[in-house]
Amino acid sequence: MARVTFNGVCKRYGDVSVIEGLDLEVRDHEFMVLVGPSGCGKSTALRMIAGLEEISDGTVSIGERVVNNLAPKDRDIAMVFQNYALYPHMSVRENLEFGLKIRKTPPSEINLLVNDAAGILGISQLLDRKPKQLSGGQRQRVALGRAIVRKPAVFLFDEPLSNLDAKLRVQMRAEITKLHHRLKTTSVYVTHDQVEAMTMGHRIAVMKDGKLQQVGTPLEVYERPANLFVANFIGTPPMNFVQATVGEGGTNLSASKFRIPLPRKMHETSSRWAGKKVVAGLRPENIIDSGKPARGETAPITVEAEIVEPLGHEVLVHGRIGDDLLVAKLDPHRAPEIGQSLDLVIELEALHLFDATTENRLAN
Ligand SMILES: Nc1ncnc2c1ncn2[C@@H]1O[C@H](COP(=O)(O)OP(=O)(O)O)[C@@H](O)[C@H]1O
Ligand SMILES: [Mg+2]
Repeated sequence: MARVTFNGVCKRYGDVSVIEGLDLEVRDHEFMVLVGPSGCGKSTALRMIAGLEEISDGTVSIGERVVNNLAPKDRDIAMVFQNYALYPHMSVRENLEFGLKIRKTPPSEINLLVNDAAGILGISQLLDRKPKQLSGGQRQRVALGRAIVRKPAVFLFDEPLSNLDAKLRVQMRAEITKLHHRLKTTSVYVTHDQVEAMTMGHRIAVMKDGKLQQVGTPLEVYERPANLFVANFIGTPPMNFVQATVGEGGTNLSASKFRIPLPRKMHETSSRWAGKKVVAGLRPENIIDSGKPARGETAPITVEAEIVEPLGHEVLVHGRIGDDLLVAKLDPHRAPEIGQSLDLVIELEALHLFDATTENRLAN
């Protein structure tokens, strides 16, 4: 097994830059998720590890070895794609054997590796079928099996679950996580789905427009997003954002129609922003029913319920206050009527402040 290192990696197509100065280390045994909207350069980054794209600048290393000029077959990686890429005329067993035969693995060993992988993935009873006789989930298992039998140093996954329906996606997500727990092979997993990123990654690397925005554990990124983009991209429903001005001394925050104190732990930072424009971010779960036990310092707020979305275990209420609409996750049994005025509580210590100009998180 091995770590994977991007060092100042750039990718250009002619004048178009699609990856800019990427520095990222995927640790040995780590499951790293590259996440970002479509077109941000995730597949390109992955394909540069695999050797399927030339690197315009910088180096990619697998283990200690710079692989820029190494042929894909010599990189000791296995890739799983969204479209499975199975050979339609071959049986499942032949699909699993194919890469091993090319590498001239002895037949007795091939047999062991294939049977072992099929056992792990629960496809032993499907080995004689052709891909067209399989469901989507079964095909995806075969594609995984083809990667597993090779026992590579690194697994590369490019949106492998995107073609599955929602329920199967959740199931396969857990299976890939279990698989990694068992094999512990260093993995780089690409997805545009932030829920997949949060649930599967040891760490996640958030990208936008070819630039890395933040790397951290799911909780680090969720609790301390580095900028407005990350704050907005990670979490559903997304964080609420309010244009605001920091008051004198940095002890309070004024929005269009409300004013709240800033928690003491923020004062050191916020005092330097007195009089300046910021964007305040607050996650829906940090706007709670008044009367519910709150964490840390709080402030009351009254909103008018504009949209009410019951989800069973909770209700999402879009509450208006002046020009601002705040989404709150509330107790489903206390759902308001539309138009009703609602007393809520803000957990102030969960507030995020961003520079309105640079969109970066203010240090705190
Ligand atoms: N051969 C190419 N020539 C020019 N631009 C390309 C080429 N391949 C990809 N791109 C561009 O590179 C950007 C990143 O693509 P990609 O890595 O596939 O994004 P993602 O996987 O995050 O959706 C996109 O804007 C895409 O249009
Ligand atoms: Mg892609």
